[in-house]
Amino acid sequence: MRMRRIPWAADYLKESASRVQDPETRKGDWKKETGQILHVEIGCGKGGYSAAMADLYPQDQFVAIEKNESAAGLAARKFDEQQRENLCLIYGDGSDIDLWFAPGEADVVHLNFSDPWPKKRNAKRRLTAPGFLEQYWSLLSPSGKIIMKTDNSSLFEYSILEFLKAGFYLEEISVDFRRNEHPEDPLTEYEQKFVEKGQPVYRVIWTKTPASAEADLTESQNHAGGAGLKTESNGAEETQPALFERSINKVR
Ligand SMILES: C[S@@+](CC[C@H](N)C(=O)[O-])C[C@H]1O[C@@H](n2cnc3c(N)ncnc32)[C@H](O)[C@@H]1O
Repeated sequence: MRMRRIPWAADYLKESASRVQDPETRKGDWKKETGQILHVEIGCGKGGYSAAMADLYPQDQFVAIEKNESAAGLAARKFDEQQRENLCLIYGDGSDIDLWFAPGEADVVHLNFSDPWPKKRNAKRRLTAPGFLEQYWSLLSPSGKIIMKTDNSSLFEYSILEFLKAGFYLEEISVDFRRNEHPEDPLTEYEQKFVEKGQPVYRVIWTKTPASAEADLTESQNHAGGAGLKTESNGAEETQPALFERSINKVR
């Protein structure tokens, strides 16, 4: 789906209070407080997801990245309408994250409905192509996670193989994430459309550290004990919001 050109976006982005004009100067300094969780959404589109997440998790810090000028303009305007201390926008290409973030600085990378780039000659542009996955590995803290949602089964299959090849560990997977209510995870603009049409949402969470090692690392924080769940079906005794909360707790 092509984004309609927004004529005011270029000028708006020059003045927007939510846009970080010189993100390289913030390298290593994105967290407002030590110990805070830093989320980075790459390809945020109109910004609805990061805005809703920033409201839902006010203690966390959110950086949304978008390379399309019109989409970035709309995201900036949305963020400016309700200036939040914990949310900002980078208007730029996600392939530059290593210029803007220090190694290990981020805790969660969100990839929501990334462009599938179905033609092989464009495969490098996929946000789950090996070049990007290498950068995410470096960007993430040792207990960091990547949360990917998509409507595209081919991109989902491709990405699973690429994540495994890059050395990530599978923590959670669903081929119909919205079959259950998930108040802990807001719908993105694209997701809203797919859900309205009854299309399934694929979702997967990857970690840099296997769950068993992570459980050891965080034993003192994780009073629930043990690293459980991997799929929605075998986590039946625990609600999904509780699982998500526990998953997020692991990176605290
Ligand atoms: C299909 S849209 C999804 C938007 C939003 N995440 C959602 O779910 O509603 C994908 C977005 O990712 C952006 N994008 C694609 N590659 C990117 C990159 N390398 N860096 C930053 N943004 C990118 C596109 O410009 C587009 O706005």
